[in-house]
Amino acid sequence: MKVVAVANQKGGVGKTTTAVNLSTALAAAHKRVLLVDLDAQGNATRNLQVKSHFVRNSYTVLTQRSTVHQSIVPTCLPRLSLLPSSPDLASLDIELAHIQKREQCLKRALITFLSVPNVAQGNQPYDYAFIDCPPSLGLITLNALVTAHAVLIPMQCEFFALMGLAQLIHTVRRVKYNFNATLDISGIVLTMFDGRHTLCLRVVQDVERHFPNITFDTKIPRSIRVSESSAHGKPVLLYDTRCSASLAYIRLAKEFLNREKG
Ligand SMILES: Nc1ncnc2c1ncn2[C@@H]1O[C@H](COP(=O)(O)OP(=O)(O)OP(=O)(O)O)[C@@H](O)[C@H]1O
Ligand SMILES: [Mg+2]
Repeated sequence: MKVVAVANQKGGVGKTTTAVNLSTALAAAHKRVLLVDLDAQGNATRNLQVKSHFVRNSYTVLTQRSTVHQSIVPTCLPRLSLLPSSPDLASLDIELAHIQKREQCLKRALITFLSVPNVAQGNQPYDYAFIDCPPSLGLITLNALVTAHAVLIPMQCEFFALMGLAQLIHTVRRVKYNFNATLDISGIVLTMFDGRHTLCLRVVQDVERHFPNITFDTKIPRSIRVSESSAHGKPVLLYDTRCSASLAYIRLAKEFLNREKG
């Protein structure tokens, strides 16, 4: 199972939308996917149309009150499972303050999960796990980066996003140096793209110039269907398969898989 953290400390840049729709597109492409919702806001959990309160969830996993195996739930898509979130994640820093190696909690839980046969999935292993991170570089995102093989960075096409990106890449380098030598940057996904705005085009040029090999060619256009789909508790890919954002997420999944092959 390849673990991909979807992270950016900036809020509202499309992390959850990307994690949910990329997972959905890959499940539709016959991959087995586990979506881990590590954000106390629980938007990924709600976007998958499953009820939003679970007794066992990512918080109980991180605090060792349940195992991953006990806590994952099926979704409306056959090959997509969810480790749901809990509002209790908001106080995780305090809860784990006295624990040694608290940045390794998720990694330990996933290693245990992978070491036992997965009966719930018919003994078929997962191909990917996507971790939807909260908008901060605190303990939860650190757990995700310590666990992941790669980090996928959604970036909104606006000026201040570039500054946040430098800080995030610096953090990834520090995590790689201190905790997770094999951590890689899977890529930067430009989101909420609107080609009519000059500033948007400038940001795209800047990102592609500074990070030529890691920026995905696929840009996710701004589409009202994305906000509508959230209100309906569905991935946009299931809400309106043919809208511009859905078609872009399908292209992104293909590009992601091609890079994996490469
Ligand atoms: N391509 C898009 N077009 C239009 N709206 C979008 C698009 N992508 C995301 N949005 C909207 O922008 C808002 C933020 O998106 P999302 O929740 O995915 O960001 P996030 O980075 O996960 O936010 P947070 O940091 O709060 O977790 C949501 O209301 C979502 O519906
Ligand atoms: Mg989010």
